[in-house]
Amino acid sequence: MRVEKHPILGDDKRERDASIVVDGKKISAVTGEPIAAALLAAGIRKFRVTPRFGSPRGLFCGIGRCTDCVMTVDGQPNVRTCVTPVKDGMIVETQVGFGKWADEP
Ligand code: FES
Repeated sequence: MRVEKHPILGDDKRERDASIVVDGKKISAVTGEPIAAALLAAGIRKFRVTPRFGSPRGLFCGIGRCTDCVMTVDGQPNVRTCVTPVKDGMIVETQVGFGKWADEP
């Protein structure tokens, strides 16, 4: 789900030069694009589940304000994926509730 050809901006010639692991599955991405963009391009729309009812949440505002898109990234919970750029080799996990740090029991 990427805009490959745009009538004004032209063709997307960016190279998929990075890969990230999302819940154990490797996906390709573009270094520097928001994590959320890479996830949507891979068809992943559920980023976390709410602490109380376990309801799915994903991209909402897309500008870093609502925190609906938070995930656990490289062991750090509550990372806003809509404003966090992709780096090659990132480990991204669906966040359950308030999340846990990687070294937390
Ligand atoms: S979608 Fe709102 S903070 Fe990321």
